[in-house]
Amino acid sequence: VSMRDMEGLSVVVTAGPTREFMDPVRFISNPSSGKMGYSLAKTAWYRGADVELITGPVSMSSPHGVRVTKVVSALDMMDAAVESMAGCDIMVKAAAVGDYRFTSVSEKKIKRKGTDSVEITMINNPDIAAKLGSIKKPDQTLVGFAAETDNLLSNATEKLNSKGLDLIAANDLTEEGSGFDSETNNVTLLDREGSLKKISGTKEDVADMIWDRVLEIRGKS
Ligand code: PMT
Repeated sequence: VSMRDMEGLSVVVTAGPTREFMDPVRFISNPSSGKMGYSLAKTAWYRGADVELITGPVSMSSPHGVRVTKVVSALDMMDAAVESMAGCDIMVKAAAVGDYRFTSVSEKKIKRKGTDSVEITMINNPDIAAKLGSIKKPDQTLVGFAAETDNLLSNATEKLNSKGLDLIAANDLTEEGSGFDSETNNVTLLDREGSLKKISGTKEDVADMIWDRVLEIRGKS
């Protein structure tokens, strides 16, 4: 591939976990480090793209040349992603979005009340990828990930179709050296025509191979 084969393309990548706060000092989240999404942003920039990175709270430093939008909750991420969707050519959803949030967020720290257990209710967060899929224009490419512990390909295919994605990277969380917080990743790329491609390597290698596949798909249409 030529070094700057993404010149002229505007891409948005979401990365990292979201945090759903219960009160000012407690939240529920997940182990996403942001490495996969940051690698996608960095490699796209190297290849000449204009890049925005919408990121949940992670300890990684901002990649050079990339516009960074910091968010905390799934609702924040949704607002940022929807706002950026209209102006981009490619959107990749590598973030691990919390599926649920607390029904209410206490403004004050919730006190320990001397009871042995506590019951909390959570409600569904909106599905950001599905929302983007519904507003996507024909010349835009929407890529998602599927983090799975079982039935990898059937679950990923379901997500590809239900969220209106063009491509999904199915991530088997049970595989060694794959998924959350590892330096490497191992994913199967599934497109709408049913083609399968297994790729693995460092997260930067995997990111480059995802961009290769995205450019191929865009070239066909
Ligand atoms: O950050 P790292 O430590 O490098 O780890 C990388 C990763 C494992 C987080 C990444 O490779 C990955 O798999 N990201 C997707 C994790 C995830 O939330 O998967 P999911 O199967 O729950 O969601 C499917 C897709 O829908 C994803 O593209 C997700 O961003 C999106 N989604 C999910 C829920 C929701 N409410 N809104 C969404 O947009």
